[in-house]
Amino acid sequence: MLQPSEIHPGIGTRRGAMEPTHQPVKGKSLKHPAPLAPKIFADTAKIEEIRTLRDGGIITGVTTNPTLLKAAGAHDWDSAHQIMRDIVKLMAPHPVSLEITELDPVKMVEQGKRLAGFGPNVVVKVATGGYQAVDKALDPFTGLHVIHELWKADIRTNATLIFNCTQALWAANAGATYVSPFLGRLADYMYKNDTPERAPGNSLFFMEDHKAPAGGPERVGNTPYVALHGPRMDAGVRLINEIVTVFCNYNIHTEVLAASLRNAVQLSECLVAGADIITVPAAILMGVADHTLTSEGMTSFVKDTQVFGHQ
Ligand code: E4P
Repeated sequence: MLQPSEIHPGIGTRRGAMEPTHQPVKGKSLKHPAPLAPKIFADTAKIEEIRTLRDGGIITGVTTNPTLLKAAGAHDWDSAHQIMRDIVKLMAPHPVSLEITELDPVKMVEQGKRLAGFGPNVVVKVATGGYQAVDKALDPFTGLHVIHELWKADIRTNATLIFNCTQALWAANAGATYVSPFLGRLADYMYKNDTPERAPGNSLFFMEDHKAPAGGPERVGNTPYVALHGPRMDAGVRLINEIVTVFCNYNIHTEVLAASLRNAVQLSECLVAGADIITVPAAILMGVADHTLTSEGMTSFVKDTQVFGHQ
């Protein structure tokens, strides 16, 4: 867990310059108590999951990607576009990230503009880099060019697939509204490439007293590890904190959107690390809505109420 002394003191004031999480409601006298709370987004394209989370007041945004659209039933462009439009409509006025899939910069800008036409709450998701990995002929800065072009066209962007602080800064300079560090994939990478002896930097450990299966170590949440071994350094959470710190240092208003979460512990830690937005799979969001002790407390309250009879 990060120490309080490592959290930037400017976190609160920087958030004050951003779009509030909860906008004031006209004619309502009881003000919302958490206008600048970190924004929680749902990382899913399944409309029923989104509706439940939205109706519970849990989320104020959605992120999608081609994989999530496929999981939601998209099987061609028509169905993918229909799902995107449904989410955009359901979530309005809250932001919905829709990802660009073209690779040619001119076509990418055109696609970004088309996606933005689905509604004023669309945020166009652009991969920050990786272009030469898919085609050597591509300019490595394609993503940054596109973000900059869309910024010039007054279109909000979400710079995705970020794994270090400089990628985040480059994207912010290009005009990105959000940067999305993928902390879970970073943790996965560390998990595969670190040995247990080199624990720091890996958020998913197998514990010493945990019998690893024949095929390799089993993933366990990191809280038991922390309890057993004391403070640790989670590479994913560290990355979030590092980007937040740099953005606080220079009063950069691009919002840090923590993405690719794998467990509830990472969710709490992102909150401590100062993430502006956290996008979370629906199952984790629903899971943390309850707690064993809450259920125990509720059961005993309901039981004790029974002696009062009917109201
Ligand atoms: C974020 O916008 C992405 O959709 C998402 O968090 C990717 O996470 P993954 O690593 O689970 O694919």
